[in-house]
Amino acid sequence: MLDHLENTVVGSDRQRTLAADYYINDNKLKEEKERIFFRSWLYACHASELADAGSFVTTKIFDQSIFLVKDRDGQIRAFYNVCPHRGHQLVEGLGKKSRITCPYHAWAFALDGKRIGSRRSKTLTGPSNDEICLSEIRVDRLVDFIFVNLDPQAQPLSTFAPGLEEQMLSVEPDLPAMKPEEAVQLDIDYPCEANWKVLVDNYLECHHCVNAHDQFNDMMDLSQSSFALHKNYTFQVAPTENKAENKAFPLERDHDITTGHFWWLFPNTLIGQFPGAKGFYLSTVTPTTPDSTMRKSVTLKPPVPTDPEMEQRHKQRAEWFPTVSAEDKALCENVQRGMHQRGYQQGWYVTDPEAHDISEHAMRYFHDLYLAAMKDI
Ligand code: FES
Ligand SMILES: [Fe+2]
Repeated sequence: MLDHLENTVVGSDRQRTLAADYYINDNKLKEEKERIFFRSWLYACHASELADAGSFVTTKIFDQSIFLVKDRDGQIRAFYNVCPHRGHQLVEGLGKKSRITCPYHAWAFALDGKRIGSRRSKTLTGPSNDEICLSEIRVDRLVDFIFVNLDPQAQPLSTFAPGLEEQMLSVEPDLPAMKPEEAVQLDIDYPCEANWKVLVDNYLECHHCVNAHDQFNDMMDLSQSSFALHKNYTFQVAPTENKAENKAFPLERDHDITTGHFWWLFPNTLIGQFPGAKGFYLSTVTPTTPDSTMRKSVTLKPPVPTDPEMEQRHKQRAEWFPTVSAEDKALCENVQRGMHQRGYQQGWYVTDPEAHDISEHAMRYFHDLYLAAMKDI
């Protein structure tokens, strides 16, 4: 049995939510980039995408282009995707290379970022190989989920969010063997016309679930759900009613997951194991403007099906999932319009230590961490 109280923290007792300005002001998003996103652990890729020495993938943190590569010693490294010579981009997309060669003037770099093979002559000026290397970025991982952090001083994930990886492995011991699905079968990447914090707020309370998610509510036993607060993350345990037939999708009680487990890692990573056919997911909610967000997900499946019908049940859940996503998206977009109303300045938290099905204490904890990071407390 998992000790849900290990590493728990107690949130504040503030009563009022973040003011509307935090959700609509372009200057707040600029501050969030500097104070939060450029200093936080952000999901970059799954380790299986970097299977061999020289495998690389590119990604972006807002306008910052970066790439991750597996070096010859098997270490995953991340670099800014920019050449130190004159600033050209080094690599595009994904692939495999034995060295990184800049397309502009062909400066070449080993997979560990050191410069190699420059043209030399007696009269050529310029730096020696020893003086030049790629600009490296911090990398860490939760099981096989690879994260990057643009802050060179950032604490490792095991210090920033102690116990999180252990909880994930305790809930799903097979997680290291699970692999991302080949194609995106689930319609779970979507833009939402709402501030990224509206999406996180919505994820961190199930107060709305009875009203808004009729089918999900019929599957779950939300009165028994709980949200625990930990250092820089939260952990929600949400049992189903264990009904084979329900309005969402059928559960096969001998093989399926019958209790949902959901984590949120500050600031924008959502991790979980949904009820139903065995699997695991990680999602990110990334702001594109103060009023819009992109939610992207990677879903993992077990290497061997739990039973012959697992695929079929997996498909049934995948077909159902857009229903609940659409319900949450509509709620968030509605709230975002509310943030612009002159009649709304700031909301209220509803909290109840004994009724986590309605309590918004996990959402308040997100705001506690957010305000501390923004230095507005
Ligand atoms: S900018 Fe890369 S080699 Fe010149
Ligand atoms: Fe919801």
